[in-house]
Amino acid sequence: MISGAAKLAGVMGWPISHSKSPVLHGYWLDHYKVDGAYIPMAVAPEDLPRAIAGLRALGFKGSNVTVPHKQAIMEFCDTVAEDARMIGAVNTLVLDTEGRITGSNTDHAGFIANLHLSDPSWDPKAGPAVVLGAGGAARAVLYGLIRAGVSKIRVANRTLERAQTLAQDFAPHVEAIAFTEVPAALSDCALLVNTTSLGMAGQPPLDIRLDGLPKTALVTDIVYAPLITPLLSEAMKRGNRTVDGLGMLLHQAVPGFEAWFGIRPTVTQALREIILGTK
Ligand code: ATR
Repeated sequence: MISGAAKLAGVMGWPISHSKSPVLHGYWLDHYKVDGAYIPMAVAPEDLPRAIAGLRALGFKGSNVTVPHKQAIMEFCDTVAEDARMIGAVNTLVLDTEGRITGSNTDHAGFIANLHLSDPSWDPKAGPAVVLGAGGAARAVLYGLIRAGVSKIRVANRTLERAQTLAQDFAPHVEAIAFTEVPAALSDCALLVNTTSLGMAGQPPLDIRLDGLPKTALVTDIVYAPLITPLLSEAMKRGNRTVDGLGMLLHQAVPGFEAWFGIRPTVTQALREIILGTK
């Protein structure tokens, strides 16, 4: 139940009906008995300026922002945080009492929190990382890894130019390599991350061999449907430690919830099961 003083937040996207964020934040609002609400907001691209004015007019504490607004939203922010600038996308808005908007990106923190909490033995200094893919998700992963202390990252992508752009943007920590160079790059790899959509339900599996990967390496996938992707399954069979991608989705929501509702929520197994049960 909410009162007339309830704090308001939500998620803007187009379409929005598939978003798991209302279930996720709704679970925490119930769990922590917060006087607040989090609602899905279907905002067509041409309505984005009016939607922002609406957030201000209605006194929203903030909002998540998803496809297709993650770049377009930047021009409506009074402040764009360094993480969102480097990643090139905003996924979280926080409004202050004057209605000034700060846009940030929480995906990198979600990725790193998921690694640390799912595998407390993960050491960013253990050795080079190999990141597959060079899209928006890869940018968040690179930003997070570098901040966490990983000093050498090789990025492989089907379209090499995109990996080269990342190598420039995240110099000197990132080197672009072709997919054909991945087997050699795995030989001293401490962390392998898939950020491509390969392995997602309905997509072909990722076609790489893990033969040269040290048994001590950690393997993670940001795809979470299915939870155990072909890559993670292969890694498990070889005896590598693995971390699935669902935790990134859950952990990226933590900073927004804390900023809007004043409580730092915990990611639990019960929450994982609720989100997994949401089609
Ligand atoms: P996101 O924001 O989720 O990262 P994206 O920016 O569209 O999405 O990036 C998708 C990534 O998956 C890219 O690295 C893409 O490779 P290209 O840059 O060459 O397009 C990769 N990807 C998608 N389908 C692929 C496929 N069939 N084979 C290899 N890589 C693929």
